[in-house]
Amino acid sequence: MIKLPGLIDPHVHLREPGATHKEDWRTGTQAGLAGGFTMLLAMPNTSPPILDESSFNLSALAAQKKSCIDFGIFVGAGKSNAITAANLAPSAAGLKMYLDQTYGPLRLDSMIAWHEHIRNWPQNYPIAVHAERRTLGAILLVSILNNKPIHICHVARREEILLIKAAKEKGVKVTCEVAPHHMFLTEKDIPEEEPGMGEVRPRLASKQDQDALWENLDVIDCFASDHAPHTLSEKTSEEPPPGFPGMETSLFLFLTAVADRRLSIEYLIQRMEKNPRKIFNLPNQSETWIEIDPDVEREIRASDMFSRCGWTPFEGWKVKGELKKVVLRGETAYEDGAVLAEPGAGRNIRWLSKSI
Ligand code: NCD
Ligand code: ZN
Ligand code: ZN
Ligand code: ZN
Repeated sequence: MIKLPGLIDPHVHLREPGATHKEDWRTGTQAGLAGGFTMLLAMPNTSPPILDESSFNLSALAAQKKSCIDFGIFVGAGKSNAITAANLAPSAAGLKMYLDQTYGPLRLDSMIAWHEHIRNWPQNYPIAVHAERRTLGAILLVSILNNKPIHICHVARREEILLIKAAKEKGVKVTCEVAPHHMFLTEKDIPEEEPGMGEVRPRLASKQDQDALWENLDVIDCFASDHAPHTLSEKTSEEPPPGFPGMETSLFLFLTAVADRRLSIEYLIQRMEKNPRKIFNLPNQSETWIEIDPDVEREIRASDMFSRCGWTPFEGWKVKGELKKVVLRGETAYEDGAVLAEPGAGRNIRWLSKSI
């Protein structure tokens, strides 16, 4: 049996408010517990999107009532909310900017809007961006011009990880996360008969792209699941939305890589607990840990999962490692497949905004 700190997932899409048939704060955080997470940061592309205090509070109130683990909530960068967003900085997990194709209405195309957001956002509060390929080069420049650190979400391609590596070597304040699906899947895994099941942003990439992630493990600061649940019927529809669920499989895929000697357990703790805590300035959780039996071999099955979406791109994969127990602030929150934490047991990791 091994004991690890409670894990932190810095990139999760819970669908409340607006699309609770995909996920809500209860099912999503139960999924988090089953994946070994005791804290998550939730993305703002809900419906309505989180762009001001009232939409922020809608989400924060739902979380306060229903979350089984500790949480923070990002505020989204919209076309005209740079000041409003900056005022929410102390209450938010950080600012999230969508600069490329994604799910939801938050994509920002104007570099003037990017600049306004980064300029107004207070120093030392986190900024996370969805920026692929050349967009990544452009947003890095804007962050350098404003002397603000940025965190690059779900890096998927060779050209992206190499650009981040080069920027870090120059002393640029940039950090990044990689999602398990880009580490373990490539475009060859997109099912021919149901291509919608393989839709995700960034797209699943080539073997060379995947190899570049594994060859540059030292450039990766965090593993983030980018848990983005959509139902099976949506994924197999005419217009399948992009996104994979991930919180319940991430740790076990990586533990299997540890068993295969592709990673060390220390490396994993850095990427799934220590670095996210540092980058996003997250509080310590006292008396919080998880217990794992690393020798158990099992098969991934969506039917065992808490997520409401009902499927996983890793169905049938054989993985190593079973989660036995999660303890959150002294209370057993999960044990042997059962969630024991009550909805509402999780705490907001930031200051509550004024009107809550
Ligand atoms: C995410 C979603 O569904 O919210 N989808 C995805 O493919 N990753 C949005 C995002 O992370 O860009
Ligand atoms: Zn994204
Ligand atoms: Zn992120
Ligand atoms: Zn995402």
